[in-house]
Amino acid sequence: MKAVNWNKQDDLTFMYWRQNIAQFWVDTEFKVSKDIKSWTEDLNDSERDTYKKVLAGLTGLDTQQGDMGMPLVSLHTEDMRKQAVYSFMGMMEQIHAKSYSTIFTSLISSSETDYLLDEWVTANKELQYKAEKINSYYMKLFKPQVGKYDQYMARVASVFLESYIFYSGFFYPLYLAGQGKLTTSGEIIRKILLDETIHGSFTGFDAQEIFQTLTKEEQEKAEKEMYKLLLDLYQNELVYTTDLYDQIGLTDQVKDYIEYNANRALANLGYPGYFEHKDLNPIIENAMDTSTKNHDFFSVKGDGYVVSMNVEQLEDDDFIFE
Ligand SMILES: [Fe+2]
Ligand SMILES: [Fe+2]
Repeated sequence: MKAVNWNKQDDLTFMYWRQNIAQFWVDTEFKVSKDIKSWTEDLNDSERDTYKKVLAGLTGLDTQQGDMGMPLVSLHTEDMRKQAVYSFMGMMEQIHAKSYSTIFTSLISSSETDYLLDEWVTANKELQYKAEKINSYYMKLFKPQVGKYDQYMARVASVFLESYIFYSGFFYPLYLAGQGKLTTSGEIIRKILLDETIHGSFTGFDAQEIFQTLTKEEQEKAEKEMYKLLLDLYQNELVYTTDLYDQIGLTDQVKDYIEYNANRALANLGYPGYFEHKDLNPIIENAMDTSTKNHDFFSVKGDGYVVSMNVEQLEDDDFIFE
């Protein structure tokens, strides 16, 4: 047994710990019922269908990151303070995974939620493909001793999940919120997105440190494998995006957003962009524009964050149990 030593507080790991804590939030503090009117009046059937499916897909990916990704990466992390950061991030993944259900609970029936999460997620081929692809890297960490190469590649997979392939799902809630539709749900999605921003950045930073310990041959092999994975996931994202967004005519815009985020994932890993730079839809820029919303990467809570911690005053009655 060893003891974590937080005495050293002047480095990046401590900065990431502090920022993760500062961003802490829980789903139940958002009043999603405020979105019911917008849900029934602003969206048509196809739009509601796409919205439900992107949230169901995100639920699957956040569940995987909380159950598999973060615990397994943490298991093979030497610095115990970094392990603490991974554990905290893993806990937030569970809050993310739960928060989509919080939205569903307010907007759709239980039977429909059950169908989406229990059946649609498991039956969607592209969603399962990306989950399995990422998971194959995580599962290489499921043993006591693991080489640096597999430790590095698992982090690459994690950064690709958090900085890249989540975003075909994030696009639509942001797109709607940018137009004043489903704004409370949109605020939850932005909290998740801000978390993923810092998660991808931290994991990328950790990956880059491991990369330095690889041999020249391993580095070259890792680079090739990374680009292969990037493009493999890209092809799959295009099919997934077409499947979800064709019915509302947004496929091309989501594709641009995926490419933009693929470049961001590469930047987190210390690589230049792969895809050509394109301007994003101004509605997405607007949804991401934090200046009017008291809400940016380094601020603590967003404007939709209304109730602090759901704390109820204790009453004498609370102690009568019959
Ligand atoms: Fe997450
Ligand atoms: Fe994450």
